[in-house]
Amino acid sequence: MGFLSNLFSTKQAKEPFDFSLFGADMHSHLLPGIDDGAKSIDQSIGMIYKFHEMGYRKLIMTPHIMEDFYKNTPEIILEKLDLVREEVKKYGIDIELEAAAEYYFDETLVQKIKNKEVLTFGDNYVLFEYAFGQEPQQISSLLFEFKVNGYKPILAHYERYPYYHNNPEKIREYRDNGILIQMNLLSLTGHYGPGVEKMAKYLVDNALIDLVGSDCHRIEHLQILENNAKNPYFHKLKDLKLLNSSLLG
Ligand SMILES: [Fe+2]
Repeated sequence: MGFLSNLFSTKQAKEPFDFSLFGADMHSHLLPGIDDGAKSIDQSIGMIYKFHEMGYRKLIMTPHIMEDFYKNTPEIILEKLDLVREEVKKYGIDIELEAAAEYYFDETLVQKIKNKEVLTFGDNYVLFEYAFGQEPQQISSLLFEFKVNGYKPILAHYERYPYYHNNPEKIREYRDNGILIQMNLLSLTGHYGPGVEKMAKYLVDNALIDLVGSDCHRIEHLQILENNAKNPYFHKLKDLKLLNSSLLG
């Protein structure tokens, strides 16, 4: 069985995966000039058009909010959202746009949660991320604040944190605590390296993912997804109960 499943995992699927099945993308950096994603409105439009071509009907754009690098506020983000929506309308691209944020866990995040200053989407979801180098301290107090303030936290790209790669049980602990798990589609292509790819495949094989996202910063990211559309792991995502399509509407 192990041999057969290994064989399957290296084989290409016959049909390219249809990304329109997700309906909505909930993690991207498409708003221009406010983080390490789109640098100009033209780049924003180029990426949004490509998503539309791939069959996405809704994009929830999530710029970084990071005290040391990207001091974005809800006002800055929503102003950029208005700008991009107007431009998308001018071009006649039929796609729904929303914005929230990708909150980096730094010393300011807990205060933002207590002040109810965080941008949400869908069912009061908040997307948050950790540092890649080292597991942060005081995770339990962060998760407590999310809970007591009525938010539903989504941990971004779980497979990309190297400190969890040798601890597969950790994710079950998160999920048992009501934390939703998001995986980057690019992780399945090897884009972030073999360790991340292996973890991403583990998450798919064990149905440990609640949402998938593009985490698109540049148009190349979408081209990589298209070029890898025959990766059988994209097809396996069809068997999971993902929340992406619940975000449409
Ligand atoms: Fe991101």
